[in-house]
Amino acid sequence: MNLEDIFATTLFDGQTVFITGGGSGINLGVAQCFARLGANIAICGRTQSKLNDAAAMLETLGAEVVAQAADVRDMDALAEAMATTESQLGPINVLVAGAAGNFTAPTEKLSSNGFRTVIDIDLVGAFNAARAAFEQLRQTRGCLIFISAGQAQAPFEFQAHAGAAKAGVDNLMKTLALEWGPYGIRANSVLPGWIADTEGLKRLAPPGSEHRIADEVPIRRMGDTTDVGALACFLASPLAGYVTGNVVAADGGMMLRGSGIWTQVIGAMLAETDASG
Ligand code: HXC
Repeated sequence: MNLEDIFATTLFDGQTVFITGGGSGINLGVAQCFARLGANIAICGRTQSKLNDAAAMLETLGAEVVAQAADVRDMDALAEAMATTESQLGPINVLVAGAAGNFTAPTEKLSSNGFRTVIDIDLVGAFNAARAAFEQLRQTRGCLIFISAGQAQAPFEFQAHAGAAKAGVDNLMKTLALEWGPYGIRANSVLPGWIADTEGLKRLAPPGSEHRIADEVPIRRMGDTTDVGALACFLASPLAGYVTGNVVAADGGMMLRGSGIWTQVIGAMLAETDASG
């Protein structure tokens, strides 16, 4: 998709977009879309070298970039990264809370710490990011975009931790849409479907399952990170100025089938692996 033929390349000129987990995967794809439309970008994540590589790439798209390591579980580190962002790029106009961790595990084999770790990264991390960005977003009358997941809407086997976390994220998003609406701050979630060439796909889909998944998606293809980034750009733009409190999917219709695709393709393959192991 050639975003530049669709949106003005000045759409986010002078704006600051902060993206947690922006060093790779879907979040980096979202960062690229905002950069292509004029935004300056701040990214945080756990690994500075990965952030540096991502920053170099975003700079080739014309963005000024702040790339500062901060684990979303660490409120102080996050607050520091946002303070650096404000001083170097100006206050945050758009916060994308995308940092996530996931793995598949049958619940009877999932430890309390394993469950808590994903809740801490996905849900507490989303809260921390929103909370730390609040004062800047209030100044800019900015917006929040949370990255959700299908697991929030329908139960997926072996995803008790991620489903609980992402359902919490969507509830948090709606609460903030209510509470922070009077400050002019909008909040929405983007729900990506199966997105090719991402860490999430690598971790969740067994090797060789890509074609089987694509065949089950109503649109009959995997998504790409631009499918998700374009939606995030729309939600952050004045076109969506009256849109708040929504979960909007870029999933090719995947969730119309509930957990069906997961159960039929991934659940079945994992169950086979479990039975043979
Ligand atoms: C069972 C596991 C496990 C696995 C980790 N744990 N991997 N349990 N099966 N495959 C358990 C550990 O045993 C430990 O519990 C606890 O989880 C914490 O593990 P650590 O490795 O110490 O945690 P940490 O280093 O903080 O790493 C977090 C992580 C890891 C989530 C476990 O996978 C990670 O860093 N992921 C980041 C990148 C990522 O996952 N990206 C894809 C996101 S995909 P014990 O009891 O042993 O101490 C995505 C797609 C959307 O989000 C879907 C979302 C709904």
